[in-house]
Amino acid sequence: MSEFSELYQEVILDHNRRPRNFRVIEHPDGSAVGHNPLCGDEITVYVDMDGDAVRDVTFQGAGCAISKASASMMTEAIRGKSRDEVIRLFDEFHRMVTDDPSALPDVERMGKLAAFSGVCEFPARVKCASLAWHTLLAAIKDGKGIVTTE
Ligand code: FES
Repeated sequence: MSEFSELYQEVILDHNRRPRNFRVIEHPDGSAVGHNPLCGDEITVYVDMDGDAVRDVTFQGAGCAISKASASMMTEAIRGKSRDEVIRLFDEFHRMVTDDPSALPDVERMGKLAAFSGVCEFPARVKCASLAWHTLLAAIKDGKGIVTTE
């Protein structure tokens, strides 16, 4: 394993062990439940908006290490961003985890989220990495909803 991917693995393990923003927002502007029917994992994402910007974003639920770490890092990455910026970042994230495995991630743009670039080598884990993101989009677009990764 290269030093690069070891570092990434360490970041993912850290966020799985100590997920950030792992709490409920009592009266959120939006929330949605995301469900991966392949494994039964389910998470809820809560968002509080300040106009068009994400003021607070949190999550709760049970999932594998990748889905939990992805949700945790997502909450850190999108705080303060507008809806459009969140959607753009989701598109880039999704491209990164489904892209050609030999393509290097844009670390400057993706920051810590680049830790998930290796997921593209494991198609079964793409849904784990993107579960929180699909759920977030439902929460900020519609204000509520239930999404599945199917
Ligand atoms: Fe269930 Fe990853 S195995 S979300």
